[in-house]
Amino acid sequence: MSKQMSHLDNIPSTPGKFKMDKSPYIHNRLRWHSSLAKLTFWSFMFLGLILIFFFRSPSSNPLPQDPSRRSLRTYNWGGPAWEKRVRSSARIRSRNGISVLVTGAAGFVGTHVSAALKRRGDGVLGLDNFNDYYDPSLKRARQALLERSGVFIVEGDINDSALLRKLFEVVAFTHVMHLAAQAGVRYAMENPGSYVHSNIAGFVNLLEVCKFANPQPAIVWASSSSVYGLNTKVPFSERDRTDQPASLYAATKKAGEEIAHTYNHIYGLSLTGLRFFTVYGPWGRPDMAYFFFTRDILKGKSISIFEAANHGTVARDFTYIDDIVKGCLAALDTAEKSTGSGGKKKGPAQLRVFNLGNTSPVPVSDLVSILERLLKVNAKRNIMKLPRNGDVQFTHANISLAQRELGYKPSTDLQTGLKKFVRWYLSYYSGGKKAAG
Ligand SMILES: NC(=O)c1ccc[n+]([C@@H]2O[C@H](COP(=O)([O-])OP(=O)(O)OC[C@H]3O[C@@H](n4cnc5c(N)ncnc54)[C@H](O)[C@@H]3O)[C@@H](O)[C@H]2O)c1
Ligand SMILES: *[C@@H]1O[C@H](CO)[C@@H](O)[C@H](O)[C@H]1NC(C)=O
Ligand SMILES: *[C@@H]1O[C@H](CO)[C@@H](O)[C@H](O)[C@H]1NC(C)=O
Repeated sequence: MSKQMSHLDNIPSTPGKFKMDKSPYIHNRLRWHSSLAKLTFWSFMFLGLILIFFFRSPSSNPLPQDPSRRSLRTYNWGGPAWEKRVRSSARIRSRNGISVLVTGAAGFVGTHVSAALKRRGDGVLGLDNFNDYYDPSLKRARQALLERSGVFIVEGDINDSALLRKLFEVVAFTHVMHLAAQAGVRYAMENPGSYVHSNIAGFVNLLEVCKFANPQPAIVWASSSSVYGLNTKVPFSERDRTDQPASLYAATKKAGEEIAHTYNHIYGLSLTGLRFFTVYGPWGRPDMAYFFFTRDILKGKSISIFEAANHGTVARDFTYIDDIVKGCLAALDTAEKSTGSGGKKKGPAQLRVFNLGNTSPVPVSDLVSILERLLKVNAKRNIMKLPRNGDVQFTHANISLAQRELGYKPSTDLQTGLKKFVRWYLSYYSGGKKAAG
């Protein structure tokens, strides 16, 4: 894990969009003769030089650990050709279709949700910053996949308010499917700033832009099962306490739920939070256990399997991606309209939270046994004590609320789902493609 993270800040920064400062002094030649104007001009020049020096100095002396460097990246966007692509991607092609802005569209869940929406004729526009938390070439491959089905992914950051305002200016999105986030539990100890940047600042920025959009979109967004933290009562129900997170990641997702409450209460935004339980499947995330276990088993490398105190079982409510996608689409389809306009609330709006799990936790050691059978390779198991740095001992979703309100009914067991994952993995990483990570 840390090997894969060590090169995080070594990538060249993305070429930025250069914006000319529209200085009033360039066109205002008449006043050049006034000495007051000259004085002002030179003062501004001086100030400008100081500012340039100020902004340049961090990049000429890069600090490898500085998480804010990522937020300094700028992206190319705008222009007639770009707007045309945005419009065309977001165009609704079926009766009663919706137009959805999908953030995190180059991510694992985002790619699957975008493709499913597009397939049924909805308008879909993606947004992703393609950060290198894990191998960006996988994100590029997902982008290429979506491109073939007509989904354009705008390259940019959810904390960029000018970009988001522009997107809402070009398209009157009816819905936002917000999946962009800094995921991962243990990485929060290496780079806490990235969680604040994407999961807090980025989310607030998105909500700010949505609140002023006309019409306001309905928003469905990814929270996480990790909000249940150190709870021991199972299964986890939506009403259970969520005030003892075990990681900064969980804390930022919990914060997101409270922030959602505020924007619903004050501005009338329709908001639905989905607490995903360990999602897996084809095109999945290389930082998750099922994925790197597969890689390491194939390489003959030993894998670390955690166990709790007194040989306690560590288990996860693994949920197959297609089931999650159905839950996401059902949440979008049952979302009521936001009620505010012009940044003001006009009436009460919908606020929901749902567990999306599989309700059938599987011990991690069983996961490994299934992988051994599918890969026809014996794993070198290294049993280790579960460290207290983010992971919880088990997760188990009570999904009766989602069942009732969304018609959510997961139908893929771990064996079947992993078979599909392994098939994808072997074909994706065979034939010239370099190994994951
Ligand atoms: N996969 C799971 O098991 C799981 C479980 C619980 C919750 N979730 C949540 O579901 C959502 C999707 O997860 P995923 O597994 O697809 O993760 P992912 O990392 O594959 O996808 C997230 C995408 O968002 C993008 N992104 C991150 N920060 C951004 C920013 N500031 N601006 C623009 N784009 C940004 C990333 O580049 C990435 O492509 C996330 O919110 C995650 O926290 C996932
Ligand atoms: C997010 O954007 C705002 C406004 O542009 C900026 O002030 C803030 O520093 C950014 N936050 C993070 C954590 O990147
Ligand atoms: C599951 O959640 C529902 C509420 O949605 C609750 O009525 C039920 O008691 C819960 N079941 C269990 C076993 O906790």
